[in-house]
Amino acid sequence: MERLDHFLSGAQVASRKELKALLKAGSVTINGTVCKDGSQKIDPARDEIRYLGQLVEADRRVILLLYKPAGYVTSTDDPRDPTVMELLPPAYRRYAPVPVGRLDKQTEGLLLLTNDGALAHRLISPKYEVEKEYFAIHEGQTCEEDVRAFQEGLVLADGTRCKPAVLTPLGPGQSRVIVTEGKYHQVRRMLASRGCPVQYLRRDREGSLTLAGMEPGQIRELTPQEALELDR
Ligand code: URA
Repeated sequence: MERLDHFLSGAQVASRKELKALLKAGSVTINGTVCKDGSQKIDPARDEIRYLGQLVEADRRVILLLYKPAGYVTSTDDPRDPTVMELLPPAYRRYAPVPVGRLDKQTEGLLLLTNDGALAHRLISPKYEVEKEYFAIHEGQTCEEDVRAFQEGLVLADGTRCKPAVLTPLGPGQSRVIVTEGKYHQVRRMLASRGCPVQYLRRDREGSLTLAGMEPGQIRELTPQEALELDR
């Protein structure tokens, strides 16, 4: 059980101060009955709370999967470029999800956003070895020697050491790459270090999540089952 005013401020309907006046004006109903008393106890899981007729949902964990199009920066705020936050449907904004990791401005593909900080940390941390799979179009052609170099762990031009990764050549100018970390421009720099500068990059998979059935710019909330699997 929770106080009505606490529930409403947690759901960011209004500040606690403003709520007093809103309640007094009869703007809030509990199960269809006007309630003017902020100290009234409610059960957020059972009671239907409405503010000006709109259902108020409890603050909750939100995990969104965005098919990021090229041209958007992975940031909550940018003075020049459009950000991925502009692709969020307004209904999700109040849960304040933030991007999990980063895709370059020109990279397309799967980007998670969440308000669960601990989950975000786990998905990003190389320690947990969550696989990220990319499709790349590049100059040149990758070969078995490159596959071995990826397997052994590349050392990039500036001395950065990469964890072992899986490279799959797909024919002239196309490869798949699976990494378990997210260093700056990592996949681009890995392929460039083997003489294959990247022209197009798309993240197709993170863990067991894919872009199946989605178009660039689309966003969807994870199903409860998918969210549970991420917690494992
Ligand atoms: N590697 C890159 O080089 N760029 C990305 O956006 C993601 C991984």
